[in-house]
Amino acid sequence: MLDQLEALYREALEALEGASDDEALRGWEREYIGRKGKVTLMVRRVGELPPEERPAFGRRANEIKRELQAAFEQRARQIEQEKLARELESGAIDVTLPGRPVQVGRLHPSTQTLRRIYDIWAEMGFQVYLSRDVEDDETNFTLLNIPPHHPARDMWDTFYTTRPGVLLRTHTSPGQIRAMREFAPEPIRVILPGMCYRYEQISARSEIQFYQVEGLAVGHNIRLTDLIGTMSDFVRRLFGPERKVRFRASYFPFTEPSLEVDLDCILCGGKGCSVCKHTGWLEIAGCGMVHPVVLRNGGYDPEEFTGFAFGMGPERITMLLYGIDDIRYFWGNDIRFLEQF
Ligand code: DAH
Repeated sequence: MLDQLEALYREALEALEGASDDEALRGWEREYIGRKGKVTLMVRRVGELPPEERPAFGRRANEIKRELQAAFEQRARQIEQEKLARELESGAIDVTLPGRPVQVGRLHPSTQTLRRIYDIWAEMGFQVYLSRDVEDDETNFTLLNIPPHHPARDMWDTFYTTRPGVLLRTHTSPGQIRAMREFAPEPIRVILPGMCYRYEQISARSEIQFYQVEGLAVGHNIRLTDLIGTMSDFVRRLFGPERKVRFRASYFPFTEPSLEVDLDCILCGGKGCSVCKHTGWLEIAGCGMVHPVVLRNGGYDPEEFTGFAFGMGPERITMLLYGIDDIRYFWGNDIRFLEQF
């Protein structure tokens, strides 16, 4: 029976050579290696052999089945190639035609700016700390030195949830409390990026959702001059070494003193234009020395520790970098806007 099998094997190989199109190939498959194919049926007859001959037969039968399967697949590829070559020759495919352009995705402009911001702060030793979007009133306001009914709460129009005391964060500042409570009493240098939400009229200048990047450094002997030097360095790394930076006194409940950071208008260079509203300066961040109350709420002794904090808006920075005049483009999902970046 082994001889018969070998003969069948040679016959099958020869027949395969003769199969020259898909249909013939399918026919061959059915005739030899299909469920009712000749080879398959013969292999099943192993039981008719005397027991001592069965292992040798079985081994060879498996080999043959494998080889026929491989030969079949190779022949199929060959036939496919030949078909393609014939099509090319007959001119059905014009290989000189330019290819169709592939649509590639890209990063959202806010994401690109966020990543530039991360890189710069990382070079200065700041780690990224991710805090939550859904906050409690206590952390978003009270622990940041903004008690209930304090008029400063008017600075942030808030989306409340149906759960009392649960809201969407209006700024990334509550992340300061969470980071401090996790790391105190170790010194920290973190940035806290994330989406913020405000219950506001959408306009060219304000959106109900936008990114912020918060920063926080807490340690021994951190001074106002450290804040001013660090912020100036950041601005020049992002906007270019030739930029002028200006600090103005401001007010935030969680910092004392509080400052606002301006840079000379990238568009007019300080002469005055519509982008800088004829002031020659662009506002790009709020900052200050962490208020002692906030330090204490974070778990640091304000007699021993000091720190600075800042908050900036990547959309606003992107608008300045690219001269975009309407913040609504960012979440409008218009491909004509997005594909420019
Ligand atoms: N949280 C402020 C806002 O949403 C921005 C800000 C200002 C953050 C000063 C700070 C800071 O950390 O020191 O308007």
